[in-house]
Parts: sequence; structure tokens; C-alpha cells
Amino acid sequence: MPIANPSELQLTADGRLRHLLTLHGLDRSLLTALLDQAESLLSAKGEPVVRSDALRGKTVANLFFESSTRTRASFEIAAKRMGADVVNLDIRTSSTTKGETILDTIYTLQAMHVDVFVIRAGDAGTQTDIAMHVDDHVSVLNAGDSNISHPTQGLLDLLTIRRHKGNFEDLTVTIVGDVAHSRVARSAAEGLSTMGVGEMRLVSPPSLAPEPATMPGAKILTDLDEGLRGADVVMALRIQKERIQDRDGIPDGDAYFREYGISHERMKLASPDAIVMHPGPMNRGVEIESSLADGPSSVITDQVANGVAIRMAVLDAVAGSKSK
Ligand code: CP
Repeated sequence: MPIANPSELQLTADGRLRHLLTLHGLDRSLLTALLDQAESLLSAKGEPVVRSDALRGKTVANLFFESSTRTRASFEIAAKRMGADVVNLDIRTSSTTKGETILDTIYTLQAMHVDVFVIRAGDAGTQTDIAMHVDDHVSVLNAGDSNISHPTQGLLDLLTIRRHKGNFEDLTVTIVGDVAHSRVARSAAEGLSTMGVGEMRLVSPPSLAPEPATMPGAKILTDLDEGLRGADVVMALRIQKERIQDRDGIPDGDAYFREYGISHERMKLASPDAIVMHPGPMNRGVEIESSLADGPSSVITDQVANGVAIRMAVLDAVAGSKSK
């Protein structure tokens, strides 16, 4: 069966979210509804406090074929806060190591009445392929698809920006680092574009710059100072070494920090009230100065806290009591 267009696969005939595979193709009203729902779950201090029974009787399975700390833990916490049963399949000891295909693993868990699969995979399109094969009552959530997309990260980044800045239209958002290999940058760019961001700048060394056609509407730059000037939001990305075969032309360590690291000194070029973001995992002293990551302009821990609320909102949309 040919791989479907993920943005066409994820909505039901009446426009409700069934799978979350990509932010591409989701309209502003749907993104706003997810952000509003997540916001309603946060306390004034930004902690998700609301527990509910919205997923009581449902089973959520986490299948991570790549490493994760934040995404895996926050999906598990989110599902448990809503009363779901949660299965965390340890891929290193699962029967995929004996040659079972991912689809056969999915069919096996589906026979045990799993309702939602949360999947991270390094092979592009895995989640879309699975979404095409699951039973009607089952939903698939993309927790990181190769270098293609990471939609719940994109949503939590949108929520973090909205909570700190109030809107998107008046903002200049600068994303700095290995944009070429970053699913985080791609989903952030898709979400920001849909929400009508004022200006989006993507700054990388030339060898880590994205194909312009994949980032419509963004200014693609190689000069960090130009990218930071007047920015309201600055997001640093790590170099995705695991996705890069040939590292020629990529400055390493100290050299990278000198040219592309975000520091207190460099942030003087940005707006005085600019916020600093990083999706994690962070390489302190490489893409970001350690004291900046822990300083007052940093909203990195807010991103993590907002991730639980966003994942609760997404789980509620696809499997909550009002979803069907
Ligand atoms: N931001 C992010 O996806 O982090 P993890 O790899 O720890 O899940």
C-alpha cells in the first residue's frame, strides 16, 4: 500500500483529530483549540495540576525506537493523569529484536486492546504507515519522526511562546543550529507559520542549513548576529550528530560555540525581553551558554512543563470521552 499523505490521514471526515502525525495541514482553529485546552490544564505557575478520568478504561502504549527523556516521560505522565493504563514497551527486549516487524508488534498490542500508540522512530514515515493499518478505534501519535516532524514538541513550543508573549503576529522568532536535521525546527516552523508569526529566521552553518523549499516563508541565514538582531524568541538546537554521516564543514565544540552558540553577550542583540528556548537534550557550552540556559530569560523548564499539558490535550482530543 503506498504511504499516504500524513496531513490527509489525521482528521476524521467531520474534521476531528484522529491521529497526530504532523502539524502540516492542521488549521489555526484546531491548533488554537489544542493550545487553549492545554492552557486550561495549567496552574498560574505553569504546572499541570488538573487530573481527570477522561481516558479511564483506555490503554496507551509508548513505543520508542529512538532515545527519549522528555517526550516519553511526559506522554506517560499525561496519560496517567487522565486515568489511562500505560504500557511502555522496552524495544531493546521486545520481539522486534527477534525479527518481528513493527506492524506485527502493533497488531499484537492492538489485539490486547491498546487504544493509542505513541511512537518515535528513526525511519521516516513509520507513524504514517502504522496509522494506515490500525483498527478504526485506534489512534497514532507521532512522538518524533526521523528528521521530519515532532508535532507535540511544536505544540508545546507554541504554547510556551503564547504564554510568554501573548500572540504570534508581532513576533520575530529565530531558530539557531542544525535546522537541516531537526524535526523540532520543522514542526515549530509549520506551527508558527499557521499561527501567523511576524517573522521567522532560521540560522545555521551553511552545511546545516535547510532546503529553502522545505521551510516556506522563513528567512534562511548563516550569520548569527543578523539572525538575533531584534528577535523576541530565540530557540537553540543541538547538532543531531546521530543523523550526520559526513561532519566535514561542521564546526565542533568551542568553534561551534564561538560562531553559533547563544550567549549572554550575543543576546544583547535581541529584544531586551527576548525569551530563550531549547527543546532538549542540551549540550551546554556548545549551542548555548550554560548560565544563559539557567538564567531569567530562559523558558526551557516551562517548555518541559507545558509538554505534559499539551500531551494531555492531544490524548484528550483523540481518545477522551468527547472524542468519538
Ligand atoms: N525534545 C525532545 O524530544 O526531547 P527527548 O528526546 O528527550 O524526548
